[in-house]
Amino acid sequence: MAQDADRYQLFNPRAYLQNNYTPPRANFEREDSVVPWKLRCLADSFSTGEIRGQTLLDIGSGPTLYQVISACDFFTTVILSDYLESNREELRRWLRAEPGAFDWSPYVKYVCGLEGRSDQWQAREQRMREAIKDVCHCDIMKAEPLHPRVLEPVDAISTTFCLESVCSDKESLERALSNITSLLKPGGFLLMIGALGESYYLAGEVRLSVVPVDEGYVKEAVSRSGYRICVFKTYTMPPELKTGVDDVTGVFYLQAQKL
Ligand SMILES: C[S@@+](CC[C@H](N)C(=O)[O-])C[C@H]1O[C@@H](n2cnc3c(N)ncnc32)[C@H](O)[C@@H]1O
Repeated sequence: MAQDADRYQLFNPRAYLQNNYTPPRANFEREDSVVPWKLRCLADSFSTGEIRGQTLLDIGSGPTLYQVISACDFFTTVILSDYLESNREELRRWLRAEPGAFDWSPYVKYVCGLEGRSDQWQAREQRMREAIKDVCHCDIMKAEPLHPRVLEPVDAISTTFCLESVCSDKESLERALSNITSLLKPGGFLLMIGALGESYYLAGEVRLSVVPVDEGYVKEAVSRSGYRICVFKTYTMPPELKTGVDDVTGVFYLQAQKL
């Protein structure tokens, strides 16, 4: 089962963004900072041209958009989803370009820079606002995570720091993985980023439990769920990024294809 879902009601989107998506973790001057690493992993996968299509679904988006910056250039429709209305509203604020929305422009500039077109970041933000057509409710613990929304199986799924943060143990994590896999077409791609060796994180006043996983376990669980792993990368959290907002030891990135 999921960890006490009520605890997630205390998740503070702004505190979570502050903890993880501002310096030092999001330091674009330093290539070894974790956020640039995540953006490079995603950009590398998309740069092959292999991952493209009609629809990409991002599961457990939280209040963040960095994970779909590259994707928005390769999919006609990008759908964001989260369990909490507060996170969905944070995302909509950015989509409506409201004052006070979180500023993702350093992220968008960095990704455009990787593609050799730093000067086109505003056009990319516009493209993102066109491609992201919906921000919907999801619950990965349900056999139909998007219920009552009905969606044809999608071409690709991305999910970042969701499964291990929401599930209470490995058994429920694998059930949740199977639930989201049912939303993906055979041959479709799963792009997943997650925490290694983490047991908790803070999101404002609330401390949320995480299932600690290692590289071997993630590979086994994803393979058992019916995927071929194409890319697997790991990042070791340097001491200066251990800021006390969690006990993460590293981050993994994987690209896998549903068999
Ligand atoms: C650690 S945050 C990850 C946010 C974002 N994807 C990122 O990369 O930082 C975990 C997210 O899972 C969401 N969540 C909690 N319970 C969930 C559930 N049952 N189904 C789907 N998402 C859930 C939370 O609201 C939160 O946004």
